[in-house]
Amino acid sequence: MNRKAKILRHIDRSGRGIEIGPSHNPVAPKRDGYQVHIIDHMSREQLIEKYQAHGLDLSQIEAVDFVWQGESYAKLTGKTDYYDWIIASHVIEHAPDLISFINSCDEVLKADGVLSLVIPDKRYCFDHYRPITGLAKIIDNHLQKSINHTPGTIAEYFLNVVSQSGQIAWNAETTGDYQFVHSIDNALEGMASVMQEDAYIDVHAWCFVPHSFRLMMHDLFGLGLITLKEIDFYQTDGFEFYMTLGRQGAGIQQSRMDLLKQVDAEIAVGMQTPSRWRQLSVKKSVKQVARSLKARLRSP
Ligand SMILES: C[S@@+](CC[C@H](N)C(=O)[O-])C[C@H]1O[C@@H](n2cnc3c(N)ncnc32)[C@H](O)[C@@H]1O
Repeated sequence: MNRKAKILRHIDRSGRGIEIGPSHNPVAPKRDGYQVHIIDHMSREQLIEKYQAHGLDLSQIEAVDFVWQGESYAKLTGKTDYYDWIIASHVIEHAPDLISFINSCDEVLKADGVLSLVIPDKRYCFDHYRPITGLAKIIDNHLQKSINHTPGTIAEYFLNVVSQSGQIAWNAETTGDYQFVHSIDNALEGMASVMQEDAYIDVHAWCFVPHSFRLMMHDLFGLGLITLKEIDFYQTDGFEFYMTLGRQGAGIQQSRMDLLKQVDAEIAVGMQTPSRWRQLSVKKSVKQVARSLKARLRSP
């Protein structure tokens, strides 16, 4: 299944939708016939200016219907229980209050509406050396009603973001040296503009591997902080993974311990260089062969 098919799998294409932060890479643009409203924290003109130096196809950037400035999407759009779907590709990790982001989507969706997310896998992008986000900061930011990134988030982002062989995103097979992207001065400047001007600096606040995100959604539902549950999930392809959430979702049918073990396994794979991982895989397959040989020798 290709990228678009995974994102659109549970979406009623004839229904009304929102795409949040599509910028230069929309999944469901108006020109393809979608009845879609665009939400971003910047206007089209500001997005064009932001992405001008990046060598991207700026003609893909559609008009932004609603410019988000910290309010709920119900307040922003004037609608509740109205949309059939929301797509947010590479956006949830930017939301200062991730719980409010999900609940804000929930509020504008119909009872059977879906939220289709694409999430960067921190192992294979510039977040590689940043810590996996746990529940503590997610809940605390929510309780503090954060509509902006904290100075700590900004410092941690600027100090630890890396590129690999000059790329900001890669895949499990890519090899090459990592290099820091920003300087300590960038971190200081970023912190100052948040503290002094309350500026919104667009960074990844949150870093996930696939199962840390699945566990996060499971736990937030269990704690009564969100009412959406997992409907579908697709493992990492390249540097991103996919999840659809909805009030009708069945959730994840695995124990929390199994999910944590899968997080461990994902870190073991993704934080090794590919050649080291191949060695581990070879060791594993040697062990598997030895085990099956022993079993055969034991059987009559
Ligand atoms: C990394 S780009 C993703 C672009 C595209 N969706 C993709 O998958 O390649 C993030 C987009 O989300 C927007 N954005 C960042 N923070 C946001 C927020 N808190 N609310 C809404 N949009 C936000 C950015 O302006 C940008 O358009």
